[in-house]
Amino acid sequence: MNVRLATEADLDRVNELRRMVNDVHVAGRPDIFKAGFAQELQDRIYEIWDDPEQDIAVAEKDGVICGFAILHHVTRPENPFMLERDYLDVDEFGVDEAYRRQGAATALIAFAREYAAQKGIRRIELNMWEFNEGALAFYEAAGFTTYRRYMEISV
Ligand SMILES: CC(C)(COP(=O)(O)OP(=O)(O)OC[C@H]1O[C@@H](n2cnc3c(N)ncnc32)[C@H](O)[C@@H]1OP(=O)(O)O)[C@@H](O)C(=O)NCCC(=O)NCCS
Repeated sequence: MNVRLATEADLDRVNELRRMVNDVHVAGRPDIFKAGFAQELQDRIYEIWDDPEQDIAVAEKDGVICGFAILHHVTRPENPFMLERDYLDVDEFGVDEAYRRQGAATALIAFAREYAAQKGIRRIELNMWEFNEGALAFYEAAGFTTYRRYMEISV
């Protein structure tokens, strides 16, 4: 499993993987996520590509891109509630179903940690949806811990 930064030629394949992640979210919370993968969502990959604060990492096996991660360097100034913040946000993340449980996600997180360390960023964060038990199991196996929760109640 090799992980590297994407080239522009990889972006169509990255979009196939983004669509798959979107489908997981639609299936898990059809009350929140829009079904399909609208043109606007497809085009977002080019905004990410053009943004100097974001990079796209891809995992490749036998020449096939099987996973991706959007790495977003976020800096937030101090405000009345919080100190200044500086972290790497893993904005979108997924591995092709046909390539799961082969270490692609583990290799992507190892890459993200190295990427952050090289930029002097000391913390990586991400958010995930509670229904997504597979993702939670992976993130916990990779060493992530929960530091904040969103809660809801039906009325
Ligand atoms: C979550 C996801 C990225 C994991 O990718 P992966 O390449 O299969 O993960 P790895 O092979 O690196 O897994 C490493 C370890 O994590 C744990 N793990 C990974 N997926 C798991 C699952 N579905 N259930 C339980 N544990 C899991 C295991 O401990 C695994 O080690 P093992 O295979 O030796 O048992 C992948 O399942 C995925 O893309 N899911 C759909 C999209 C998604 O949920 N993206 C995240 C949105 S927040």
